[in-house]
Amino acid sequence: MLQIDQVSSGYGDVRVLHRVSLAVEEGEIVSIVGANGAGKTTLIRTIMGTLGASGGEIRFRGERLTGRPAHAVARLGLAQVMEGRRLFPHMSVEENLMVGGDILRDPARARRNLDWVYGMFPRLRERRRQFARSFSGGEQQMLAIGRALMTGPKLLLLDEPSIGLAPVIVKEIFARIPDINAEGVTILLVEQDVRRSLKISARGYVIEQGRVVLSGTSAELLANDGLKAAYLGQ
Ligand SMILES: Nc1ncnc2c1ncn2[C@@H]1O[C@H](COP(=O)(O)OP(=O)(O)OP(=O)(O)O)[C@@H](O)[C@H]1O
Ligand SMILES: [Mg+2]
Repeated sequence: MLQIDQVSSGYGDVRVLHRVSLAVEEGEIVSIVGANGAGKTTLIRTIMGTLGASGGEIRFRGERLTGRPAHAVARLGLAQVMEGRRLFPHMSVEENLMVGGDILRDPARARRNLDWVYGMFPRLRERRRQFARSFSGGEQQMLAIGRALMTGPKLLLLDEPSIGLAPVIVKEIFARIPDINAEGVTILLVEQDVRRSLKISARGYVIEQGRVVLSGTSAELLANDGLKAAYLGQ
């Protein structure tokens, strides 16, 4: 579904990603793990077209993404939940969700997706009139995921959904990811919580200093001595 082939990108003269190659098949949950500053967010930005690639090619269902503007990438069926969530604090939950739905330019479909999102996160329905700024961190993360789902994406890119959240909330959010996947949404999950992330993924890639240094099934990665020493504290 998503093919990333020898992609390089960065900021100005600083190259962050060095010939990264990876693939995500339709229906999978795939993890990308790596330390702070490894280039995970940069990879997501490059996929979504908010950052241009300086080399290589990205394809989604056979269509070339590299060189397309971000809004055109979103229309092909990709959605992202960025680090930091980026909600509109002075808008209600439902208004925040409808901003996601507006991309569709199809009110009837946006309405259906709203029901779908509320079904997945009943807490959002209960609090639909509340301002986003009054939400806890975990609720904000649910809302950020819900907003991304409003476009009915084929591929959802999640950037560190666990960041800054209490363990009990992280558990709740991670429990929803396989449910979202079961609804037909392929997922690329970027996380520093390596164990939790690999547990719900079929496969994963390890990125260090902008390069893919290791890949395999989640079971292989969890049993890898280097990965255990670097990321699992064993
Ligand atoms: N807007 C930017 N301008 C310049 N350099 C940047 C910018 N954003 C990130 N970088 C640099 O690019 C490198 C990779 O950053 P990136 O945010 O992709 O890492 P990450 O793996 O997502 O890290 P984290 O786990 O902390 O989120 C870092 O050295 C970072 O300082
Ligand atoms: Mg990041």
